[in-house]
Amino acid sequence: METQEVSGRSALRRGVLASHLLSGGTKGNARLTATTGLVLLVLLAVEGVTILAIRPLLSLPVFIGLLLIPPVVLKLAATGYRFVRYYVRDVDYVKKGPPILLMRMLVAPGLVAATVGVFATGVALLVIGPAGGIVLGLHKASFIVWLGAFAIHVLVYAARVPGLVVADWSHGGGTPGARLRVGVVALSLVLGLTLAVAALPADGPWLHRA
Ligand code: HEM
Repeated sequence: METQEVSGRSALRRGVLASHLLSGGTKGNARLTATTGLVLLVLLAVEGVTILAIRPLLSLPVFIGLLLIPPVVLKLAATGYRFVRYYVRDVDYVKKGPPILLMRMLVAPGLVAATVGVFATGVALLVIGPAGGIVLGLHKASFIVWLGAFAIHVLVYAARVPGLVVADWSHGGGTPGARLRVGVVALSLVLGLTLAVAALPADGPWLHRA
C-alpha cells in the first residue's frame, strides 16, 4: 500500500513538473530549443577542435561525445514535441506554423537522422573497440552528412538564438517555466558529465591504439 502511495506521489510530481515545463507553450518550447542549441554549439565547437587533433587527444572527443548525448536527446525531445503538437493540430503550434520548407523537408530530417547515426555508431565503436571496421566507416559517413545539415541549420537559426535565450534568462519575460527550462538544460549537462566519466574505462583500447 505504502509503495503504491509513494510511486503515486512521484508520478504526480513528474506530471506537475512536465506540465510546468510545457506551460510556456510555443514560446517556451522555442526558448528551450534555442538554449539547448546554444549549449550544443559550444560543446560541438570544442568537439570540432579536438577532432582536428584526434590522435594525441583521442580521449577528449570520446569524452565530449558522450557528454553531448543528453543535451542532444533534450534537443530532439523539444523539437519532436513541437513536431507532434503541430501534426495533432494543437491550435498554438498550428498558429506558429511549421519550419520553412527547406528546413522542414530536407535539413531537419537529414540532421536528425545523421545525429542519431553519428552518436549511435560512436557509442557502438566504444563498445566494439578499435576493430570497428564497417561501424567506423558508418560513423565517418554519417558525420559528413551531419556536418552539411548542421552547417545549414546553424546558418538559418543562429540569429534567432540570442533573443530566445536572453528572454528566458531575464526572468522569462512573462512566459511561465523559465527557471525549469534552464534547470532541465543544466540537468542534461550533469547527466552528460556523469555518462562521460562513467565510460572513461571504455576509452582504454582506443587510447592504446592512438
Ligand atoms: C546536434 C545538433 C542539433 C540538432 C540535432 C538540432 C535539431 C533541430 C530540429 C529537428 C529542429 C526543428 C526543425 C526545424 O525547425 O528546422 C531545430 C530547431 C531549431 N534549432 Fe536546432 N539542432 C541542433 C543544433 C542547434 C544549434 C547548435 C543551434 C544554435 C545555433 C540550434 C538552434 C535551433 C533553433 C533556434 C531552432 C528553431 C526553434 C523554434 O523556433 O522553435 N540548433 N533543431
